Amino acid sequence: MTEPLIVLESDSVEMTRQIGMKLVTVLTKGDVVILKGDLGAGKTQFVKGVAEALDVKDNVVSPTFIIAVVYRGRTDLIHIDAYRLESLYEVADLGLDEDFTQAITFVEWGDRVVDFMDNVVMTVEIDQGKLENFRNLRIYCFDDHKATLVKKLFN
Ligand SMILES: Nc1ncnc2c1ncn2[C@@H]1O[C@H](COP(=O)(O)OP(=O)(O)OP(=O)(O)O)[C@@H](O)[C@H]1O
Ligand SMILES: [Mg+2]
Repeated sequence: MTEPLIVLESDSVEMTRQIGMKLVTVLTKGDVVILKGDLGAGKTQFVKGVAEALDVKDNVVSPTFIIAVVYRGRTDLIHIDAYRLESLYEVADLGLDEDFTQAITFVEWGDRVVDFMDNVVMTVEIDQGKLENFRNLRIYCFDDHKATLVKKLFN
């Protein structure tokens, strides 16, 4: 991938969630965000922040075993974990009769499905930071208008 639009440093779970809360303000229905990073990087924590911002009442948990979960909020949130998907085509068989155009979707291990999803607007890559509870978040943006908004949001 090319250069990230922006690199953010998080020093806590709370801060990672807050970055998620902020980022979702530039997203609209139909947008798909890919989350990259190793096991335990903080992808699900990030989505918890997103859920909070969308007034989701249910507790967001890792969808690893169930692969995809839909949460009702101000805007619906679809949380997908592609880790266990054996093929791209399984996404189509998730039994999600959900309309992706009516929700905001976050896909953990989304590299595996990226060619399969329409409307991927961003990738957020999370990795270990300089100390134990630190993480670096690299945001890549594929939409010029949103890129401008993201820059404003975090400067
Ligand atoms: N700054 C931080 N941001 C996010 N998580 C952090 C941070 N510091 C420590 N952690 C811890 O890292 C772990 C992140 O777990 P999380 O489930 O979000 O990872 P994940 O990337 O979704 O992994 P998986 O690929 O297994 O789903 C949690 O135990 C959390 O408490
Ligand atoms: Mg996870």
